[in-house]
Amino acid sequence: MMNIAVFASGTGSNFAAIAREVKQGKLSCGIKLLVCDNPRAKVIDKARKAGVEVFVIDRGAFAEKKDFENAIAARLKKDRIDLIVLAGFMRLLSAQFVRAFHNRIINIHPALLPAFKGGHAIADAFAYGAKLTGVTVHFVDERMDHGPIIAQEAIPIKDNDTLAALEKRIHVREHKLYPEIIRLFARGRVRVRGRKVVITRK
Ligand code: GRF
Repeated sequence: MMNIAVFASGTGSNFAAIAREVKQGKLSCGIKLLVCDNPRAKVIDKARKAGVEVFVIDRGAFAEKKDFENAIAARLKKDRIDLIVLAGFMRLLSAQFVRAFHNRIINIHPALLPAFKGGHAIADAFAYGAKLTGVTVHFVDERMDHGPIIAQEAIPIKDNDTLAALEKRIHVREHKLYPEIIRLFARGRVRVRGRKVVITRK
């Protein structure tokens, strides 16, 4: 069975959605670890309730980013982690870290990349007046919101939309799509060649 580590810094609604499906036995994997860089994050409580081990690691306790990442990498190695799932982890991972887990780190982003990168993607798409936004799951490389795209789903922005309503629709879609992609990854259905990712669904 595949071991995953979820990295999160905030609320953890994606963590909870993944944990729910893991518990239901739908994903052929276990969440071995939550890695969290924010000791006040709500996701920590969600992990404890789900019986998932929590590794809280404070970037401020390390002089260099490299040392912070090495400490994380050592823990992942100890726990034999196969796949890193970023779910609202608000830090850019270095090229060295990404290379060490080549094509084994995925992220979810609440927009249709490469549009609206960054930490305020939903509000940015809304304020821009975009008619269409969505959700992207992608492999992670050393550039922000940049690696090969695994899956995307489009979500229209309606004329009478509010930001809150749009956020809600995007999160609902994320909570369905992310576990689905993890399930396919665990079954060996996700293949990557350069920037092209092919999913075989049977
Ligand atoms: C999600 O919208 C995700 O797309 C983005 O960060 C948010 C995390 O939300 N990368 P949550 O902590 O999973 O509720």
